[in-house]
Amino acid sequence: MSTTLKQLPEGYKIRPMEPTDYSVLKILEVLTTVGSIGEEQFSLQVEEWKLNDRIYNPLVVTNNNDDVVACGMLFVEFKLIHELGKVGHIEDIAVRSDQQGLQLGKHLILALTEIARSKGCYKVILDCDEKNVGFYQKCGYSVAGVEMSIRFDK
Ligand code: ACO
Repeated sequence: MSTTLKQLPEGYKIRPMEPTDYSVLKILEVLTTVGSIGEEQFSLQVEEWKLNDRIYNPLVVTNNNDDVVACGMLFVEFKLIHELGKVGHIEDIAVRSDQQGLQLGKHLILALTEIARSKGCYKVILDCDEKNVGFYQKCGYSVAGVEMSIRFDK
C-alpha cells in the first residue's frame, strides 16, 4: 500500500474482536446510536460472526492497558459478477474520542483492507460523511460513485 503509516503507539495492538469485548458498544457511540444491548446479546452476535468468518472480520485496537479503544468491520460479499468475485465492505469504524488523532483509525482501515486483499477481494468499498473523506483518502481510498439509501427505521 502506498500510504505512509507511523507506528501504533507503544503497547497498542490490533486483534480480532472477541465475544468478551463488550466495551466496543460504548466506543460505537461516537459513530451513532447503539441502543440497549446486553452483554450476552453482544457475545452471541460476535460468536455468530466468528462462525461465519469467511464473511465477517471485526477488528479492535487495544491500548497499553488492554482496553478496547477502536473498532471496525470488514465483511466480504460473495458475488456472481467478475467470475464469482468478492467485494470487501468496511463498516462501523469508531475510535474512542480521547484516542482520535493517534493514527488508530488509519491502522484499523489498513488492517481491514489487507484482510480484504488476502481473502481475494477485487475492491473494498465504504460509505462515509463528507467530513471523513480526507481521512479515507489518507488511507488510500478515492471518492467513487454516489451513496443512496432507503430507511425503514424512521
Ligand atoms: N478529515 C481529514 N483528515 C482526517 C480526518 C478527517 N475527518 N480524520 C483524520 N484525518 C487524518 C489525520 O490527520 C491523519 O493524517 P496523517 O496521516 O497525515 O497524520 C490521518 O487522517 C489518519 O488519522 P487517524 O489518527 O488515524 O484518525 P482517527 O484515529 O482519529 O480516526 C475516525 C478517524 C475513524 C474518523 C475517528 O475520528 C472517529 O472515530 N470518528 C467518529 C466516528 C466516525 O465518523 N467513523 C467513521 C464512519 S464511516 C464508516 O464507518 C465506514
